[in-house]
Amino acid sequence: MSPKRNVAIIGCQWGDEGKGMVVDVYAAKADMAVRFNGGNNAGHTVVVKGEKTVLHHLPSGILRPKCRCILGAGMVINPQVLLEEIDKLTSRGVRITESKLVISPKSNVIMPYHIRLDTAREAAAGSAKLGTTGRGIGPAYQDRSARTSLRFGDFVYPDALRSHLENVMPEKNFMLKNYYGVEPFSIDELFKQASRWAYRLKSFVGPAEDMVREAVEKNKRVLFEGAQATMLDVDHGTAPFVTSSNTIAGAICIGIGLPPSYIGDVIGVAKAYTTRVGAGPFPTELKDEKGDRLRNAGNEFGSTTGRPRRCGWLDLLVLHYAKALSGIGSLAITKLDVLDGFESINICTGYRLKGKMIKKVPARISEWQQVAPIYKAISGWPGTVRNCKRFQDLPREAKNFLHFIEDEMKIPITLISVGPGREETILRRKPFE
Ligand code: IMP
Repeated sequence: MSPKRNVAIIGCQWGDEGKGMVVDVYAAKADMAVRFNGGNNAGHTVVVKGEKTVLHHLPSGILRPKCRCILGAGMVINPQVLLEEIDKLTSRGVRITESKLVISPKSNVIMPYHIRLDTAREAAAGSAKLGTTGRGIGPAYQDRSARTSLRFGDFVYPDALRSHLENVMPEKNFMLKNYYGVEPFSIDELFKQASRWAYRLKSFVGPAEDMVREAVEKNKRVLFEGAQATMLDVDHGTAPFVTSSNTIAGAICIGIGLPPSYIGDVIGVAKAYTTRVGAGPFPTELKDEKGDRLRNAGNEFGSTTGRPRRCGWLDLLVLHYAKALSGIGSLAITKLDVLDGFESINICTGYRLKGKMIKKVPARISEWQQVAPIYKAISGWPGTVRNCKRFQDLPREAKNFLHFIEDEMKIPITLISVGPGREETILRRKPFE
């Protein structure tokens, strides 16, 4: 089964790297686009007929007539939000048929009680809150691990849905009412509401994982769209300030049921600087006017929650870690234009921890909280990179910046985004080649 033409797009930092833009470039040539983790905590903006829409579950491939879209077993799916996405696209002329969109019966449903538990838990945690997106992600994955989740294949059958609710709701309601002091749910109301969603989504449920496996075996162009990013991985990220799913390339194997040997190219996406939303360690964070400048120039406000993102310099230790965990073979560097006009740009090449220099990210949260960045300063460039169409058009200093990253990372940068528009992308290698 060689050569493998599938490509995985993985975020290298704390999310919001601009994966959507890279995915768009690949989706244009893909036969299949696959989500394997996360839920509607993700969000990427697409433009349909001049109007902006944020997709939370659906891969960008949904806009491409020849690209089949798969929501895999590793996902948690909010049926109400998914229907809103489908309805919005349909009203703008995008045809979403059962052969276009396939939902795994093994994926897990985010129910209204997951969302209420998520927000109640965050409120109760006070200053120790994680800063979740409030979409019910943690409680839904918690149910999966506890073997009390509602799987999509059961959700769409009224008898199974009813009996699931009767099994789990006494405990959920007890927690909501007695522990968190918030409103419990009526099983009847919940059933009525969820049945309406299930009725509309039933026909989309199909053998998603078989389809992906067969597509890879037939050497189709399969695009795996990672959600969130390496440092938010539930096992390998900055726990507990992480999401509740695995986000590294290995999650494709689990989330789709794909043999590890089937994974092809892994492209790591990183911003030319770093951002993070929510709480948790962020060694290169800038809490001064430079941070504000990055936020404003990069429009760093969440597409899912609208929250302002924390901003800071590029951290190569984080990128090295992402490369090691996911087997990243090339990099896409996004939002280079946001660094326009900085006289000097810092890149973190090491941390100082308890007076010693370290070259790898720590494992323990207490150490994460103590590390201080060690920077290499690089000259900024005059003017803007926005009009550059080819690598050679970039200012000398911008090329130096990118060459420095390549030399340190020992992998090529194959895509550079120099502005928010789809066409503002420098491609140094054609997609799937
Ligand atoms: P949750 O995934 O909603 O439980 O949130 C857990 C942490 O992951 C919080 O810090 C969120 O801000 C962060 N997070 C979740 N999804 C994304 C994303 O798509 N981009 C950036 N951060 C995210």
